Amino acid sequence: MKNNKASRLLAAYLYLGATGVVAQQQTTWGQCGGIGYSGPTSCTSGTSCSTLNSYYAQCIPATGIITSTRTTLASTSATTTTSASRTTSATSIPPPSSGVRFAGINIAGFDFSCSTDGTCNVSGAYPPLKNYDGANNYPDGVGQMQHFVKDDGFNIFRLPVSWQYLVNANLGGTLDATNLGYYDQLVQGCLATGAYCIIDIHNYARWNGKIIGQGGPTNAQFVSLWTQIATKYASEPRIWFGTMNEPHDVNITTWAGTVQAVVTAIRNAGAASQYISLPGTDYQSAGQIISDGGAAALSIIKNPDGSTTNLIFDVHKYLDSDNSGTNSICVTDNVDSAFAPLATWLRTNKRQAILTETGGGNTPSCEQYMCQQIQYLNQNADVYMGYVGWAAGSFDPGYPLAETPVQASSGAWTDQPLVSMCLAR
Ligand SMILES: *[C@@H]1O[C@H](CO)[C@@H](O)[C@H](O)[C@H]1NC(C)=O
Ligand SMILES: *[C@@H]1O[C@H](CO)[C@@H](O)[C@H](O)[C@H]1NC(C)=O
Repeated sequence: MKNNKASRLLAAYLYLGATGVVAQQQTTWGQCGGIGYSGPTSCTSGTSCSTLNSYYAQCIPATGIITSTRTTLASTSATTTTSASRTTSATSIPPPSSGVRFAGINIAGFDFSCSTDGTCNVSGAYPPLKNYDGANNYPDGVGQMQHFVKDDGFNIFRLPVSWQYLVNANLGGTLDATNLGYYDQLVQGCLATGAYCIIDIHNYARWNGKIIGQGGPTNAQFVSLWTQIATKYASEPRIWFGTMNEPHDVNITTWAGTVQAVVTAIRNAGAASQYISLPGTDYQSAGQIISDGGAAALSIIKNPDGSTTNLIFDVHKYLDSDNSGTNSICVTDNVDSAFAPLATWLRTNKRQAILTETGGGNTPSCEQYMCQQIQYLNQNADVYMGYVGWAAGSFDPGYPLAETPVQASSGAWTDQPLVSMCLAR
């Protein structure tokens, strides 16, 4: 996610402002800041304004304070259990008979507060674990995944997390047992559904403003992170190693060398055959990966045995006018500009790609174009392995690109229109 300015919410606030009805304090889960935002910036009592990225901040309940909405959510979803000790003996979900192999949603929250310069505030994370920190009022990401598998036919989830969170801001250090324990609850909750689970380090190829292997953290520090993660999950065939979210403004040749070092480290840690993402520059734009040299640079990355088995190009694409994923209006299905030329390149080079971020508003234009985009991917499933929508997890259902399902007091989940119309199968 490059940025996610809430233009639709903004329009609503401006309208309310004109009628004089707008509240001076933002309500729980509402937007309270971000570039281009001009609504209320202070939050209602018991919540605080938490920055997700430079374009979006939202009012989040303080730890321990249970809002009426979330009390209902937590108490009615008490049947979904999460345990760090849960083993992943769940049977893998059988592949679909046609179309792409994988379909699913990002379960965001552990990445909240990360900016595109790789600055992530550990305490700004907002984990989608309903019992996080014992507070019992967080969004139920595990319950969402169980619903998505059961009701929507999904079989993959991407679990964004910041590098800083996993090592508790200690660059090059060991994984923090407490923080990893929390993140692992989400991972285990995902694995227990039978789905594939992408571990996504949501750092834009950076740590606190500096590029990995290009003036910032050393490749060895980044390799240390991945060696530890791969060691932990080496025996889980459904873990997908999502090396890095949205590199940008990097030297792509040098970056490919960094990714090669990570691939070698993951394989040597014992994760011999799982899928590994190859993310290019330009925020992984599917429309630019050929022209910006990413496809060529990443194509030479090899496993230790010299093969490219299960090394998958990982791309993103939004459908709004500037491919930013910030607008709730869509203008393209991306077929002619991105997915058709990339399909040709992948076929020619005998490679495959996965789309790990795509999304739009719950609006007629996005419903039309998203359904067309997904149909194209399904028709080209020889080169496209799947798609993962942005985003559910800790995103408020009022977020313009929300794919967050809403749970009724009966326990039943209702999907956002874009999910039920286009992403579900
Ligand atoms: C980090 O996040 C916490 C909790 O939202 C906040 O209190 C703190 O000011 C943030 N720190 C920085 C440096 O932004
Ligand atoms: C990228 O780095 C390589 C060395 O890895 C160097 O040869 C090349 O000139 C750099 N490209 C740019 C555009 O700076």
